[in-house]
Amino acid sequence: MVIIVKLFEKPGKENTDETLRIAVERAKKGDIKSIVVASSTGETAKKLLDLLEKEKLNLNVVVVTYHQGFHGEDKISMPPEVEEELKKRGAKVFRGTHALSGVERGISNKLGGYGPVQVIAETLRTFGHGVKVCYEIVVMACDAGLIKAKEEVIAIGGRGRGADTAMVIKPANMNTFFNIEAREILCMPRLKK
Ligand SMILES: Cc1cc2nc3c(=O)[nH]c(=O)nc-3n(C[C@H](O)[C@H](O)[C@H](O)COP(=O)(O)O)c2cc1C
Repeated sequence: MVIIVKLFEKPGKENTDETLRIAVERAKKGDIKSIVVASSTGETAKKLLDLLEKEKLNLNVVVVTYHQGFHGEDKISMPPEVEEELKKRGAKVFRGTHALSGVERGISNKLGGYGPVQVIAETLRTFGHGVKVCYEIVVMACDAGLIKAKEEVIAIGGRGRGADTAMVIKPANMNTFFNIEAREILCMPRLKK
């Protein structure tokens, strides 16, 4: 099996188009049914749908967005009209508790210190923020019933905005978190900051 592995020099949004192209190229092999993508505003998700539509690839596209309140009380990052558009185009949009922060972030924000989930998140970030995001959104999508734990998915994440990392992951639920497996790294940044 030939897998494209690309290392970007730096993390960030400028790698978005190439990351999405690599992810879609991998999807063309036909053995994977779902793509899970992180998209705060919907921009990266729209670009992914454009590519999939161009290639006439009919996949289960799960868009994971920031939880309500991430950027301030009751605020959402994805405008409702964008969410509607993504859904009309066949994507599933999920907004919910972040698997790799959860209530633990509320505790450390209030009381200081840290918990084991934050240690996992920080450790994963040493591979790049995108890798941490790929793990997190796959667990969130699996817990939401939008993908199956037994079926490999392509996951796409980035650094702040856009995408710079694509992986093939065997999902897990949060209560079986350590069953998650990074099966392929399709692209990632060499430098992490
Ligand atoms: C649940 C979730 C967690 C995220 N965590 C991080 C993170 O820890 N570090 C980071 O740089 N970006 C993080 N992001 C941002 C994504 O990796 C991605 O770059 C962004 O959602 C793309 O949004 P856009 O479509 O508006 O460009 C996260 C996004 C989501 C939805």
